[in-house]
This record gives sequence, C-alpha cells and structure tokens, in this order.
Amino acid sequence: MVLQIHLESPIGFQILPIENDPLVQLAAEFSCTFDFDQLSCSVIHTAFFGLTPGPEITMKLKFRSISILLICATLFFPDSTLLADDGYNLWMGYKQIEDKELLKHYQHAISSLLVSGKSETCRIIRDELKMGLQELLGKEIPSVNTIRNATLLVGTPRSSKIIKNLDFNARLSFLGKEGYLIRSESIRGKNVVVISANEDIGLLYGAYHLLRLIQTHQSLDELDIVSTPKIRHRLLNHWDNLDGSVERGYAGESLWKWNDLPNKIDDRYHDYARANASIGINGTVLNNVNANPNILKTEHLKKIARLADIFRPYGIRVFLSVNFSSPISAQFALESNRKGGIGNLKTSDPLNPDVRVWWKNKAKEIYQLIPDFGGFLVKANSEGMPGPQDYDRTHAEGANMLAEALKPHRGIVMWRAFVYDAEVDPDRTRRAFMEFVPLDGQFHSNVFVQAKNGPLDFQPREPVQPLFGAMPKTPLMLELQITQEYLGHSTHLVYLAPMWKEYLEFDMHVSGSGSTLASVVDGTTHNYRMTGIAGVANIGNDRNWCGHPFAQANWYAYGRLAWNHTLTSEQIADEWIRMTLGNNARIVNTVHEMMMGSWEACINYMTPLGLHHIMQEGFHYGPEPQLDKGREDWTSVYYHRADSIGLGYNRSSSGSNSVSQYFSPWRETFDNIDSCPEDYLLWFHHVSWDRKMKSGRTLWEELCRKYYSGTAYVEDMIDKWNSLKASIDPEMFASVKTKLDKHTVDAAEWRDTCLLYFQKFSKKPIHRSP
Ligand code: GCU
Repeated sequence: MVLQIHLESPIGFQILPIENDPLVQLAAEFSCTFDFDQLSCSVIHTAFFGLTPGPEITMKLKFRSISILLICATLFFPDSTLLADDGYNLWMGYKQIEDKELLKHYQHAISSLLVSGKSETCRIIRDELKMGLQELLGKEIPSVNTIRNATLLVGTPRSSKIIKNLDFNARLSFLGKEGYLIRSESIRGKNVVVISANEDIGLLYGAYHLLRLIQTHQSLDELDIVSTPKIRHRLLNHWDNLDGSVERGYAGESLWKWNDLPNKIDDRYHDYARANASIGINGTVLNNVNANPNILKTEHLKKIARLADIFRPYGIRVFLSVNFSSPISAQFALESNRKGGIGNLKTSDPLNPDVRVWWKNKAKEIYQLIPDFGGFLVKANSEGMPGPQDYDRTHAEGANMLAEALKPHRGIVMWRAFVYDAEVDPDRTRRAFMEFVPLDGQFHSNVFVQAKNGPLDFQPREPVQPLFGAMPKTPLMLELQITQEYLGHSTHLVYLAPMWKEYLEFDMHVSGSGSTLASVVDGTTHNYRMTGIAGVANIGNDRNWCGHPFAQANWYAYGRLAWNHTLTSEQIADEWIRMTLGNNARIVNTVHEMMMGSWEACINYMTPLGLHHIMQEGFHYGPEPQLDKGREDWTSVYYHRADSIGLGYNRSSSGSNSVSQYFSPWRETFDNIDSCPEDYLLWFHHVSWDRKMKSGRTLWEELCRKYYSGTAYVEDMIDKWNSLKASIDPEMFASVKTKLDKHTVDAAEWRDTCLLYFQKFSKKPIHRSP
C-alpha cells in the first residue's frame, strides 16, 4: 500500500487520498485521513507531540501494522497517557492541562499573542509560544496586532511602543543582555501578561519561563518575575570526535553529522538548540578536549559555521576544543601520539613568532566564517595532549598566545587545569593547585582557567578542588560532568543536582566564612572580569538524547543551575518531573523520592566514605577494586590502599599532605581524623578497620552498612517505579524499568565485589543489612 501523510499542524494530521483500508476509513470518522507509504512510530509521536514546530511538513513514511495500531489507539484515546512517549520531547512535551479549573485560569489569563520584533529569535518566540500555548491550553492562541484583554505581549522597549510606554527602563537596567521580566499589567483597561527584556534573547528566555509556569501548574495571577543569569558563560562541553564517536558518551553517536554538513541539516540541530535555550545554556564546545587538529581545517570550519548559524538565534555561541600542536605537520592519533597538527611548522612553541602568526591567521579565518565564534577550550600537557610545557613554557604562556589571537575578535580561552603527572607528584590530586596557583595574575584578561569540581576526576564524591578561591586574579570556570562516566553511565538512575549543589554551596573559607564555590565561580568573591561554567554533555543521537530518560533531568538541572545556582535540587527535580512526566501528585511525589536520594545511594554502593577510583580500568563502569596492573595512578589499589590494618589514602600532613592546599579551617578539619567528615574519611586518611565511627559501628561495619543501604535504595526505586505503572506512559515506563532492572543487578555486583575484596584484608564477617 502506498500512501502519504501530510502533517498540517504540529498536533494533527490532515489525511490525503484514502485507499480501501478499513483502518483508514475508521480514521476518517475522526476527521483524519491517512496517506500511508512509509510509517514509523517515532514520526507519529513527533507529529502528535509537535516538537518540531513551523511550516507544513510532508513526509513519506513506512507503513507497518504495529504503527497502524498505535495510530488507532491515539485516535480513539487522545489522552496523553496513551501516546507512547519515546523521550524525544525532553521536558518540552507541552501536554494539555487536564485540571479543568486550572485550564480555565490559563485560558482566562492568555487568549491571544503579540510578539513585537522581526528577528529570527522573535520568529522562534512566536512559534514556540503559539505551539506551546495551543497544546497546553487546548485551543488556538491567535496572533494579534493590538492588545486585547488577556493578550500575551512580548517585546523590548525598542520593538514595542506599548512596552516602551510602560516605562520599564529602571527595571530593565539591571537585567543585562539576557535577563527578562514577566509581569501582569493593566494597559488601557486591558489585563495583559508582558514579557520584556533588553534584547530578543532575553525575550526567548522569558517565553520559556512562562511556558514552564504553565507546565508546572503555577498561577499566572499578579506576575512579577525578574530573572537574570548569575554566570555569563553557560556552556556544554561535547567530547565528540570527528569520527562520530563520543568520549564517555553513553547515548549513541555524536549529534554532529560531519559527513552531511554543511549542506544537509539534521532537524535535531534545531531541537538541540531549542532545548538548550529553554534552560539558558548559551554556548557549546562542539568537540572533544582530546582535540583532533583536523577540526580547524577550512572544510570543517565551514560545517561549524553552518551549525553556528542554526544556534545563533537561540542565543548559543559555538566554541571549539583545539589541539595545542595544530600548527605543526605531524600525524595526530587519539589513542597514541596526540601531538600531530595540520600546519607546516616544526614547532608549536607559544613564544615562536611563526606559531603566533599561525594562530592569528587561524583565528581570522574562523571569525570570517563565524563572526560570533566563542573561543577555544584547551587540554594541554594532560594525558598525552601537547602543550606549552613541551617547550619549557608555562600554561600562562600557552594560554596567552591563544588569547592574543582571539582578543581582536572578542574570543576567549578556556584553559583546563586537569593536569597530573605521577613523576612530578605521586598524589595526582595535588597537581592542578601546584601548577596553577603560582601563575595567578599572569593570564591575559580573556583567559579562564577551567577546573573540575574535585581534584581527581568526576568521582561519585570527592572533596572540592582547592584551586577555587586560590586564584583571585584569574577567572576560574567550573567544569561539571553531566555524562555519568563514573556514575553508572546511562544505565544507573542518578540525579546529579544534589551533587552539584554540594559543591556549589561548599564554603571555601577564602577569607573567613561566606565564600562558597558558587560565589567564586559567579565572580562575587574576587570580582572576576568574566564568569563561566561548563558541563560535559550527556547527549548523543539516541532517540531520547541521553540514553536514560532520567539522564535528561541532569541536562535540565545543569542548565537551570548554570543560570541560577541558588535554585534547590528539590525545586529543579519538581520542575523536571512535572514537565516531563506530568503533574499528577502521586507521580511527582514518588519520582521525587526516587531522584533525591539516588546520588547518595550510588556513592554508597560504589565508593562510600571517601573511597574513589576503584572502577573498571578505562571503562569506568563496574567495580574493579583489585586492579593493580598498568600505570600506578590508574590502578585501584593505588587509591584505596587496603591492607591488614585498614583502608584509605593518607593525604593528611603525615601523608601526601594534600590537606595543606585548603584554606583554614578545612585544612585542619580534614587533617585530623577525628574531625574529618566521614564522607571524605578514606579520601584523606588510612583508617583502621576497627576504628569507631560516629554511629558507634566500626569502619568495617559501617562500610558494609553503606554498601547495603546503597543497594536497598535501588531496590526501593524499582518498587516505587512499579507502583506508577498505571499512570506513566507505557513506553516511558518500560524504558525506565529496563534500566532499573540492570541498575539493581549492577548495584549488587558493586556491593558484593567490593565487600568480598575488602574482606580479604579486614578478615571480618560481612554484615548484610542496610
Ligand atoms: C577523564 C576521562 C577522559 C577525559 C579526561 C579529561 O580522565 O576518563 O576520557 O579525556 O578525563 O577530562 O580530559
């Protein structure tokens, strides 16, 4: 049967010529017609959920009987719970408000739309609001030219005379380029909702805020909202390779289709940009920090320019990771020799005049193609990547050379502090501090030093990186990892906002109390000239973007915290659940409970009490505490140091003395085994198996209890999820259930492997209760 589907609006089908198929006739009764040629479930879902708004789309789809059944189901039962949710729509499903009173309230507050402004960003705002409101409120929201009662008015004082007359100047003067306000106003006797900002991008952020209010069932009465980001550069870092693979990516291949670009544009680029804009992310580093120099070849820059064009109206600038030896001519290989380049020079010494000219020319070429290009991210002299130290130059000399090339174009350098070298210092956690603190004050004004949240490497829990607070003259950019490299990849359900909050709220005690990590990063503590935060992306080309539906919550949470780090992880979870899974109180409460303790549970079944880096070699997924082969500071025994006396790495003043890098009183608190928080105990101390813990149990007993409580939590998550079976979309339910089943098996494996292994040293019985 050869038919064709014509999607007329994002939420409905208009069906073209009908064959003698009973199912098609059936559809006709619902004033829908089908034209089948090729039909797949996912396309049907997209059509109904309407993720991709905009012009009419005509598609040829492959017919399969399973799809027919699905269409029939959706026609007979237009209830959203019966529409299979494959996760593509993220938190932007815009399901119709079911509560009748609330629906009336929203329909009463907004019944028409007036977006002033002609830019591409304004076009996006118009489409997004029209589509979003129509779906949420279940009726068309017409665009109007003049305000009526219940108009949603969107504009800047420049684009809208009505808004200009509202005299928001004083209010807007604090909002910068990206901030916005949302207010209920009475204008000429008409009650309207106004979104205003200084720039169109602020309007877009405001539009998403308004939709979020409705998605999460907030009142639209007497709105008086002002929002402005606390951090200027809010970036995703993609660790995507040019061959389509993603380093530490667990959600399929890279989104960037380098072979198709620049001519063929994947729809997902728009949807990616849209999702990011909805949470305030304003920059993206497209490629892996282990950068292939080919990314800077002209043919690639043209492809990148095309992506930049797509992202620009969403307020997203493009950045690139660059290989420090790009100017030289040798071969580059990701796995072994990482020092090759694409130029014809014999050196990449940052003080060599030819090298400096090479980078200046490259920068010029980039900016001709991408006028708002953001800048370079650099991993130098780390894990085999080349850098200035290869030429006896400092990180500052290397960074400044690139900064000079970018400066005329207003580009920035993000120079990573993820460095370690066992030959220089056997305790690699000390290295970043040792190398970078002496350079404070030597970096050019457009250079960030970008440091991970902890001093090792994105472990389930680490103490904070002591560099934060120790470089008052150098803007430090915080690097978080959204992809769960050490937290069960995209198989384990681990909500990361509580972890990020623990770091952000950690008081560094820079000079007395009151200087949290967040206040260092947002510039409050040292008055940094620029501020930034980066999240290593967990996004791939899997249909649901992140592999695990709940991993989407981490992408969402990262963006929300990057915009406003004072939000609580509870608030963010609440928003995400409501926007993604629905506002049903039982779903919200149950899923909330699942998410909130999931990080602590993961720590408990993987690396409780300050243990770290005992994962499978390279893969970093399952447990491998016995690993003792290969490079020493990549083994597990190096980190846990289990022996007949006890467990843990002595970093106190009697050991590697990494405690000395912290400000007082943390230095003393961590140094003393009695005052060291138990969450970090085995990170800073080698602790005897019989030592009494705060609970009164011995270290060994506490360790057993932690491992068992971690696995008990995961078992409980399964019960909780199962209890929601009737209320959750079947496809979503099944996909999470499958993940949770594997999660349970993995958690038990972690517990049993680690306890049986450590038991060889403790020689004590395992206590099997949480
Ligand atoms: C970790 C990770 C690597 C990554 C590196 C980095 O070591 O395992 O894949 O390249 O961090 O942040 O540079």
